[in-house]
Amino acid sequence: MKLKTIYICNSCQFESSKWIGQCPQCNTWNSFMEDVINVGKPEKGSLSKTPRSLKIGAQSPTSLEQSGKAQTSRLFSDIEEFDRVLGNGITPGSMILLSGEPGIGKSTLTLQIANNLAKKIKVLLVSGEESVEQIAGRAGRLNLNEKNLLALNEFTLENILETIHQEKPGLIIIDSIQVISSMDFPGSAGSITQVRYCTERLLEIAKTTNTPVILIGHVTKDGTLAGPKVLEHLVDTVLLFEGDRFQQFRLLRAQKNRFGSCSEIGIFEMTENGLIEIKNPSEQFLEGRKKNSIGSAITVAMEGTRPFLVEVQALVSTSAFGFPKRTANGFDLNRLQILIAVLEKYAKFNLQNQDVFINIVGGIKLTEPAADLAVLMAIASSYLKRPLPESATIFGEVGLSGELRKVIHNEKRQKESEKLGFSQIISSSNHKEIQTALRIIS
Ligand code: TYD
Ligand code: MG
Repeated sequence: MKLKTIYICNSCQFESSKWIGQCPQCNTWNSFMEDVINVGKPEKGSLSKTPRSLKIGAQSPTSLEQSGKAQTSRLFSDIEEFDRVLGNGITPGSMILLSGEPGIGKSTLTLQIANNLAKKIKVLLVSGEESVEQIAGRAGRLNLNEKNLLALNEFTLENILETIHQEKPGLIIIDSIQVISSMDFPGSAGSITQVRYCTERLLEIAKTTNTPVILIGHVTKDGTLAGPKVLEHLVDTVLLFEGDRFQQFRLLRAQKNRFGSCSEIGIFEMTENGLIEIKNPSEQFLEGRKKNSIGSAITVAMEGTRPFLVEVQALVSTSAFGFPKRTANGFDLNRLQILIAVLEKYAKFNLQNQDVFINIVGGIKLTEPAADLAVLMAIASSYLKRPLPESATIFGEVGLSGELRKVIHNEKRQKESEKLGFSQIISSSNHKEIQTALRIIS
């Protein structure tokens, strides 16, 4: 074995023989991580204890009509919010990467999924982070105690593969990919080569035995851990579990999905009894809302096929310093600057000496342009110190010349508003420009 130290960019995997501050390929700063690779010939018997599925010679193609019929059925965790995001359950033989910040609830979610599936199949939960007692303790607290749920505390890849070989589980969960390592490589767990190699070996198991594998991957804000980025192209599905750790809502979204759309989201609430599915998000998000408060607007956000009502709050106050502050929580800051400029130019608001703060309630992030009008109206309401109509929902894209543009799923948003007792709708269907919409306040 001949070892060599190299440096790999955490975001694009560019390799360099020395450490560099900025990646010449993707221009990311501070993304290089040290790694040790084997440049010599692999020792006999050390690599691949299980045979690789290498096929030699030409294969004959299969008619899609035939193979479509032969498709095996999907596995349902019966946690609807999870199954839906995956695009209708877990596909056999697929590899799913569940990534999120530490402490967001990945272990809790997978434990709940594992327990539900253990009612139908054998599930192997491999944790390199927690001991079996710790897992059992958490499972006990959450009342999860299926007989077919097997837990294993192990971080050596070869031992994990051995257990899989013996137990032949119907679902494998690895918590987390960054703590397991192979004896074939000298690099420490969490290094790019280890993470990639272990994933490849597990992928082999998934594809050859048709067993689905869920990998947990931590992401940190500064990207100091290798993992999710390096693995995105290897796995079939990348799920992102996100939310504010200090707020109870958690969102599950698919970033990549070979078996379904990427537009669905699952909403959960973290409680002391584990994660609970939120099936009526609108009611949850509006809970605790003060009626008739100034600077508050209700919009209808659309995530995937599901509309839900969210409160947008704005606070406009005179700047203490010469330079006004603009801060947005859950909304794009550039977009906010544009909306402020539009208000100044076309509605003659003077916001040049005003700080503007935006907050989307519940830790939700609004990324659609349809949220523009609600943000704009919330700012106007706070500035004018007058509340918006209590029973109105607001949505529409604001153009640079103050015009209101049509948004997709207009009808669905309207229906959701009516369902929750909001009788008035302020949108691009009844207003063509911001000036007329703003007349509602003044
Ligand atoms: P965890 O699943 O361990 O997060 P991750 O695996 O993503 O690091 O859970 C993180 C937090 O969730 C933990 O700080 C405590 C909280 N929690 C609850 O509030 N209720 C519960 O029932 C459980 C199990 C955890
Ligand atoms: Mg965990």
